Amino acid sequence: MKILVVGSGGREHALAWKLSQSPRVERIFCAPGNAGTEQVGENVPLAADDLPGLVRFARDKQIGLTVVGPDDPLANGIVDLFDAAGLRVFGPTKAAAQLESSKIFAKELMRKCRIPTAMAGSFERSDRALAFCERLPSPIVIKADGLALGKGVVVAHDCDEAATAIDAMMNQAQFGEAGRRIVVEEFLRGTECSVHALVGGTGYRMLATARDHKRAYDGDKGPNTGGMGAISPADNWTAEAQAAFDRDVMKPLVRGLMRSGIAFSGLLFPGLMMTAEGLRVLEFNCRFGDPETQAILPRLKSDLLDLLEATRNGTVQDAVPEWDERVAVTVVLASGGYPGAYKTGIPIAGLDECAALPDVQVFHAGTRREKDGTVVTAGGRVLAITALGTSATEARQRAYEAVSRVSFEGCHYRRDIALPADATNVAAQ
Ligand code: AMP
Ligand code: GLY
Repeated sequence: MKILVVGSGGREHALAWKLSQSPRVERIFCAPGNAGTEQVGENVPLAADDLPGLVRFARDKQIGLTVVGPDDPLANGIVDLFDAAGLRVFGPTKAAAQLESSKIFAKELMRKCRIPTAMAGSFERSDRALAFCERLPSPIVIKADGLALGKGVVVAHDCDEAATAIDAMMNQAQFGEAGRRIVVEEFLRGTECSVHALVGGTGYRMLATARDHKRAYDGDKGPNTGGMGAISPADNWTAEAQAAFDRDVMKPLVRGLMRSGIAFSGLLFPGLMMTAEGLRVLEFNCRFGDPETQAILPRLKSDLLDLLEATRNGTVQDAVPEWDERVAVTVVLASGGYPGAYKTGIPIAGLDECAALPDVQVFHAGTRREKDGTVVTAGGRVLAITALGTSATEARQRAYEAVSRVSFEGCHYRRDIALPADATNVAAQ
């Protein structure tokens, strides 16, 4: 089978790498891909948001399955377009992807299904949003309704800060249409956990858990990023959490979607906060996490293509994925300045030496190969380096050893990835 992976990040390199191991995969294309995806397949110069171009390419090349990495094409209906063209694609339809593309939609569904989440209100008028803030204890969380490149959530320390964030989103159109409507919610204390589930209609199968590190700097300081590193399995996940997750989140959600006439097929990734009162859903993502995927997939022993197909066929609940029992730790190397402005085109040294280390996988994110063969930086998050070890300590040590072999001007990364999840997010406030 020929496969097309849509996207150009570390997640897409990990998906293409894992799919390339399937004996049923004949050829892999990545659109547009990066310098890593071309090691396992062929890059195609089509942007992830060029939906008609992707449909044409899949038809011309007789692609057997297209796997969509990022949220934007899903929110814009790539799956509906592929379905209409009779092309096989992995991911939710535009209607189902609203779980991620509209926080108001997600909150409303959680309310109807009684899924545990932060107490919240949804607003179309800034004066009403502000009045609601005054009734909440500080800090207060303000969220743009739509997709905002991971920047649409503000934790405001008091009502003044909340007012500034609300004004920027609703009146100054900081995030364009995405921030015209907002969610205001209570701040939850705890540690976060990323759960990935393959959902096909009424059935679902969980993948391994992971814990992401969202803030830019050590000690959970600095601005939010797409994610600076991950550990899998998550060290804050327990048997009780698993039972509560199945009972209070997945089962009611799948039923609720069905009742709303929405069939979800694809990867559902709820972001959870593990609080003293139990787990709470922070948000739903409708695609694989980045960098969680780079930590999860190196532990998957089963064929990913089989699992994606079982999801599409509605039989994924019967699949029993096998996992490497070892711990995976992923460290993200970012460009100087990320998540703010940064330079690109900087040569990266040491990639081959790093990739040759045992139990290490180098996933490319923002990279590009120049005509002379040099690999240079091409984005904010540049590389995600994963190492496996028999314990978190061993995996961490191997991951950082691997990181030390790579260098590029301005490179920054967190030194505390995978340290125990005992510090609560309150420390970051
Ligand atoms: P979201 O896009 O909703 O997951 O929010 C991005 C990040 O903001 C989350 O991963 C959390 O770190 C933080 N966050 C979101 N909602 C809350 C909340 N209600 N309480 C505390 N932190 C939150
Ligand atoms: N790492 C979080 C995300 O992919 O949304």
